[in-house]
Amino acid sequence: MTATSPLFTGLTDQAADGLLALMLAYRADDRPGKLDLGIGVYRDDSGTTPVMAAVKAAERILVDTQPTKVYLGVDGDTGYVQRLAAIPLGAERVRDERLIGMQTPGGTGALRLAAELVAANTAPRRVWIGTPTWPNHVPIFRAAGVAIAEHPFYDPLSQSLDLDGMIAALETASAGEALLLHGCCHNPAGIDFTPDQWERIADVAARRRLIPIVDLAYQGLGRGLEADAYGTRLLFDRCETMLLAYSCDKNFGLYRERTGALWAKAPDAASASRLHVAMRNPARAAWSMPPDHGAAVVRIILESEELTRQWRDELEHMRRRVLGLRERLAGLHPALAGLRSQTGMFAMLPVAHDTVMALRRDHGIYIADDGRLNVAGLTDAAMPRLGAALAPWLGDVRAG
Ligand code: LMR
Repeated sequence: MTATSPLFTGLTDQAADGLLALMLAYRADDRPGKLDLGIGVYRDDSGTTPVMAAVKAAERILVDTQPTKVYLGVDGDTGYVQRLAAIPLGAERVRDERLIGMQTPGGTGALRLAAELVAANTAPRRVWIGTPTWPNHVPIFRAAGVAIAEHPFYDPLSQSLDLDGMIAALETASAGEALLLHGCCHNPAGIDFTPDQWERIADVAARRRLIPIVDLAYQGLGRGLEADAYGTRLLFDRCETMLLAYSCDKNFGLYRERTGALWAKAPDAASASRLHVAMRNPARAAWSMPPDHGAAVVRIILESEELTRQWRDELEHMRRRVLGLRERLAGLHPALAGLRSQTGMFAMLPVAHDTVMALRRDHGIYIADDGRLNVAGLTDAAMPRLGAALAPWLGDVRAG
C-alpha cells in the first residue's frame, strides 16, 4: 500500500452474522404476506411486539421522577443489579458474600465481559460450547481471544439430545476451562435439561473444576420463572465459581434498550472484590458505563409489588401463548410432534438447509439458516400457510 492509496482496500469478504443477515433479507423482500419467523422477538396475535404494560408504567414513573442524568458508574444501576439477581438466583444467594455483579449492555455485553474475564484470568483460555448454539456465541468468545472446544449436544434431524456425548467430552476438560450453558429454553434447540440431567452436568463441572458460564436470556418463557432457574441455582451451589450472563430483552420485552447483567460467584468472600475489579476493568475499556433506561425501568418494576405482579402476569401470559402456538405447530404434521418436548421461544425444525432456502424463496417464510423457527413470532392466522409450505419437505424427512 502506498501513502496515497485508499485505506481499507485490501479487505476480504467476511461472512455476515446469519440472524442479522436474515433481518436484512426479510426487510428487503417486498412480497406482501412475507412471514418473519427469524429473529427471536415475541409477537401478539396481531403480529406486533407491544411494550409490556408494567414497562410503560415504570417508564412514566422514570420520566416524572428522574432527577438527573449524571453518570452512575461502571457497575450501572446497582439497585437494578441487586433486585434483579433474586429472580435468577433466589433471595438467599443474593445475600452470599461471594456474589458480585454489574449491569451490562444486554446479554451480549454480559457474555462478552465473561469472555474477557476468561481470556485475562484463566490459563487454559478455552470455553466448551455445545453444537448447535446461538450463532453469536462463538464470535463473542473468539473476539475476546478465547479458544473454542465444541462438545456434542443435539442433532436436529433426528431430534435427539446427546447428553452422554456431552458428558464424555467434558470428562476430558481441564481445570479452569469455561463451559457455556444455556440456562433454559436452549437457543436454537429448545431443549431444557431435566433436574437429573442438570445434576450430571453440575457434577462433571464441579469435579473437573470448570467455570460454568450460564447464558440466561429467556427466564420465564420456558416452564416458568422458578423452574427456568433450576440449573443456574444448582451450578451456583455446586461449583467453586460460576458466571451468569443475563438478558432482560425477552422477559421484560426491552430488546433495543440493551438491558443485561453479569454476576459472578467468587471462590470465597476474600477474592470477591478482586474479581469485581477484574470485571470492571474490561467493561470500562469496552463501554465505560452501561446505558441506563432499561435497567432503571426494571429496577422501578422490581421496587414495586404491584408492578412486579403485573410484570409476572404479563410474562406468564406470553409464556402460555407461546406454549399454545408450539402445540398447534407440533400438530401441523406428524414429523413435528417432537417439538412438544422443546420449550421456549424457538423450535428447531427437522429440515435440511435446502428446505430453509425454499421456504424463503418460494413462500416468503423466513426462518433461521439452521432450521430454527421463532414460535413466539407465529400467529394463528399464519399457521395453515406454514403447514402447507412445510408439508412436502416434512414428508421427505419422514420417508428418509
Ligand atoms: C435471537 O437469537 O434471535 C436473539 O437472541 C436475538 C439476537 O440478537 O440474535
